[in-house]
Amino acid sequence: MLLTDKVAVITGGGRGIGRAIALKFAGEGAAVAIAARTQSEIDRVAQEIRAAGARAVAIQADVAIEKDCERIVREAASQFGKVDILVNNAGEYGPVKPIEEITPEEWDRVIAVHLRGAYLLTRLALPGMYARGAGAILNISSLSAKSAFGWGSPYASAKAGMLGMTRVVAAEAARKGVRVNAICPGPVTETKMSKDLGQTLAERLGVSSEEQLKGFLNTILQGRGQTANEIAAAALFLCSDAASAITGQALNVDGGAAFY
Ligand SMILES: NC(=O)c1ccc[n+]([C@@H]2O[C@H](COP(=O)([O-])OP(=O)(O)OC[C@H]3O[C@@H](n4cnc5c(N)ncnc54)[C@H](OP(=O)(O)O)[C@@H]3O)[C@@H](O)[C@H]2O)c1
Repeated sequence: MLLTDKVAVITGGGRGIGRAIALKFAGEGAAVAIAARTQSEIDRVAQEIRAAGARAVAIQADVAIEKDCERIVREAASQFGKVDILVNNAGEYGPVKPIEEITPEEWDRVIAVHLRGAYLLTRLALPGMYARGAGAILNISSLSAKSAFGWGSPYASAKAGMLGMTRVVAAEAARKGVRVNAICPGPVTETKMSKDLGQTLAERLGVSSEEQLKGFLNTILQGRGQTANEIAAAALFLCSDAASAITGQALNVDGGAAFY
């Protein structure tokens, strides 16, 4: 097993990509702390993991709130003794409209969840990792950070910001035994965020959801979206010792859509 005796905090672990990462990591021997706002969803995932014989705790939290981030790291460490791995995955797409229609409040909220939340948790988790001389942080960014899709400027800005933060924290942490990487998934069509976005885009474009999705998937080399499990497999690799020489990188897991 790749994560025996490791402790992982996974934000947004109640469904979608975060849930797949939590299940994958637990299956590889990690104890996992799953944080999100919807108690019933994180409880269900934690239960599923415990039923399979691994350790899990559900922590209700909004990563946009500093006190909640403090509680996530504190509860994970008090339950399992430490935090070896942090996966900043929690997120929502935010407003689907052109920038001139986006309010400052809408803008701030998206940045607060994706970018500020990842910053808060990183600064809280790092001291313990430095003390042990080991750790891995993974930021779930997006193809949106590298591409140019209309009607999602705060989301793209937050996700691109996460890539800058990934490189800088990797530079600060490398000689202290901590690796920091990012994944840029393409469309993971099974998740709530992806379905809601597809529906809204289709309405705005005046086409059916199926047409909207087909057009987008056609621009990808493989001609299909990715599964949450495919993202989780890449997350497992980057957070395990199998990736011991990889830091400061953004791995595209997008079926061939971005090429830098
Ligand atoms: N699906 C895609 O196509 C795609 C592509 C590229 C990148 N991503 C990224 O992958 C990550 C996961 O997305 P997903 O597709 O799996 O979406 P999802 O199924 O909607 O899951 C999002 C998760 O994040 C949690 N979350 C949202 N806002 C939160 C907050 N403020 N505090 C704590 N938890 C919060 C949600 O739970 P609650 O709502 O209960 O809090 C949920 O558990 C996101 O960062 C997303 O931007 C997704």
